[in-house]
Amino acid sequence: MQDIFQEIQELKKTRKALILAHNYTLPEVQDVADFTGDSLELSRKAAQCGAPVIVFCGVRFMAETAKILSPGSIVLHPDPTSGCPMADMAPVEAVRKYREQHPDTLLVAYVNTTAATKTAVDLCCTSGNAERVIASLPKEQKIMFLPDGDLGANVSRALNRPMELWEGYCPTHYRIHPDDLDKARKAHPGAEILVHPECLPAVVQKADKALSTGGMLKYVQESPCREFVIGTECGILHRMRKENPGKAFHPLEPVPVCPNMKKITLEKIRNCLRDLSCQVELSPETIRMARTPIDKMLAL
Ligand code: 13P
Ligand code: SF4
Repeated sequence: MQDIFQEIQELKKTRKALILAHNYTLPEVQDVADFTGDSLELSRKAAQCGAPVIVFCGVRFMAETAKILSPGSIVLHPDPTSGCPMADMAPVEAVRKYREQHPDTLLVAYVNTTAATKTAVDLCCTSGNAERVIASLPKEQKIMFLPDGDLGANVSRALNRPMELWEGYCPTHYRIHPDDLDKARKAHPGAEILVHPECLPAVVQKADKALSTGGMLKYVQESPCREFVIGTECGILHRMRKENPGKAFHPLEPVPVCPNMKKITLEKIRNCLRDLSCQVELSPETIRMARTPIDKMLAL
């Protein structure tokens, strides 16, 4: 492992590359990255960094977002097959059709959408700012929230704001059942239970907090509580434990895993940096059109 770490560090210098990693990636991938964060933090980093080469360790739509925000950089996605099944639940053709049929409705897309789909929506949001984005819209505005019907339902409930919801969901968070939280409360009575807002509303209602991955990391640092049960993809536990050595973190059982996030390995990072392979290619038109809803979000 040490050898490949060293190899990546050297290639990184030669290529003047920046390695960005999502909080769900493998521990060793997070350790080799220059910056690890949630979707919103990583989008901001990609927009500001100006690095000639960005290696994006996460799923496809995240690497595409980095390319959209930093079109002058070469963006490498170490495994192009690492996609987000939820993003694929809102294909651009279906979204365009909905738009034609509902000309008065504003389309708000969770950032977990393909670049193609972003060209057909009005505004983006992430789990870290979804409530703020929706709250910024006039009360009478009709909204379709896509593709995550669960995140949409959780935001709608928190803001008491009706919205049309796309029938998409995250297969990893969808498997978390309200009973799993009851069991965790019994097993760890002193712990706070944090879940991701992609979980089912019945799960969110049983949790102490629903936060983006970045929000959870901040919360566990600031909370006086010493013990937490974490209801999201298990990759996040690595940073939590590293950054909070005196606190205890338990995953919810059964442990939630996103298999696509785990496809990004050190070997694939080394290979793409060495060969400048796995470049994210988007047409200038796609970049231009997909950037508008992301920029609107970042400006809020
Ligand atoms: P965050 O933006 O909270 O990191 O979430 C991204 C994601 O894909 C959650 O499943
Ligand atoms: Fe997509 Fe869910 Fe994996 Fe996040 S955890 S990348 S939403 S499949």
